[in-house]
Amino acid sequence: MNEDNFLGSLYQRFPVTIERGQGVRVWDINNKEYIDCMGGYGVALVGHRNPRVVSAIKSQLDKIITVHTSLYNKTREEFLEELIKVAPDGLSNVHLGNSGTEAVEAAIKFARKYTGKSGMVAMTGSYHGKSMGALSITFNPKYRKSFMPLVEKVAFSQFGDIEALKSKIDKDTAFVIMEPIQGEGGIHVAPDGFLQDVRKVCDQNGILLIFDEIQAGLGRTGKMWACDHWNTTPDIMCLAKGIAGGVPMSATLVRPEILAAMSKGEHSSTFGGNPLSCAAGIATLQTLTEDGLVDNAAMVGRIFRDGLEKLKQKHGIIREIRGRGLMIGIEMKFEVKDILFDGISEGVLLLYSGRNVLRLLPPLVINEEDIKKVLEILDRLFARETARRNVQGQN
Ligand SMILES: Cc1ncc(COP(=O)(O)O)c(C=O)c1O
Repeated sequence: MNEDNFLGSLYQRFPVTIERGQGVRVWDINNKEYIDCMGGYGVALVGHRNPRVVSAIKSQLDKIITVHTSLYNKTREEFLEELIKVAPDGLSNVHLGNSGTEAVEAAIKFARKYTGKSGMVAMTGSYHGKSMGALSITFNPKYRKSFMPLVEKVAFSQFGDIEALKSKIDKDTAFVIMEPIQGEGGIHVAPDGFLQDVRKVCDQNGILLIFDEIQAGLGRTGKMWACDHWNTTPDIMCLAKGIAGGVPMSATLVRPEILAAMSKGEHSSTFGGNPLSCAAGIATLQTLTEDGLVDNAAMVGRIFRDGLEKLKQKHGIIREIRGRGLMIGIEMKFEVKDILFDGISEGVLLLYSGRNVLRLLPPLVINEEDIKKVLEILDRLFARETARRNVQGQN
């Protein structure tokens, strides 16, 4: 018996059974070591078992694990204070949940309630989650087609095209939602000027702007927020993934007048804001700021990028390298599946983003030396893939 007997086949799975982790490394049950560029889909932001996070969780365990938000708790209070310290200007209220999808669901409801409108505009290539609301604003037809009808009044606008956006909004548009750097869609960085233009269009039309920074936020791209690359602030921002060092947690940051429009009981979460996640969240935010991890992401991200560009010159099978900081996409000229499996045998865990894109979301604690090792492995993987393609070409 193994997990597959119970879990069905919802996930693309890889034949590795991971037992433990530390920093950028994980080990399987046979004690084989891997450099983790999959990073739990971006969750292992401050590294596996970050010492500050482990110690914060341990000391919280000695106090209490669960306190519903209908009661007060000092750990939660401290977490909220820490979060607002780093939040974009004006986003001083928070709703806490447990997953990225939930952060998005809350954002949808808050925006609809505040504006009294119901229209939603999302971007082509977007990914915001798979619950019925979040799925409605997720672009990929593969995820949507079997679940119609979804939530109504969604329009998709071409990512990066401001004129397209102008044509999609109308009097009933409540909000525009976008990832400043798209993750699941294939690591696509918004063109310069786009975020500022979207902000302007929203302001001119009384439309709220929501940034989904679930994957790109919290230092991943070399700035605390991906939207900082373009000095643009949203009205609502969704966070999750690595916010609590690996423990489930999400946050929907909002301008206070938006949250004030919600009445008691109109939205809630049983687990949201539990002290265990909050303790881990405090340690995570302190690690990001005090240990200089955001700057590290920018610095080593550049080294990674330079190395990858060299590999692109060397191997003709790479189409494009994209991303910022430690959110990197390598678009290949064909499917990346074999490279992912070869990576496992070579001791590196890689992620994909659609069929042709290798995605790297390593912990922000990764250093130059480990990046060099990953580049060496990728060099070998690309050479092997080229050889495989040549043989297939001959047959
Ligand atoms: C940008 C973005 N939004 C939302 C989600 C959904 O988050 P979760 O899987 O935690 O529900 C993800 C997950 O990958 C994401 O990358």
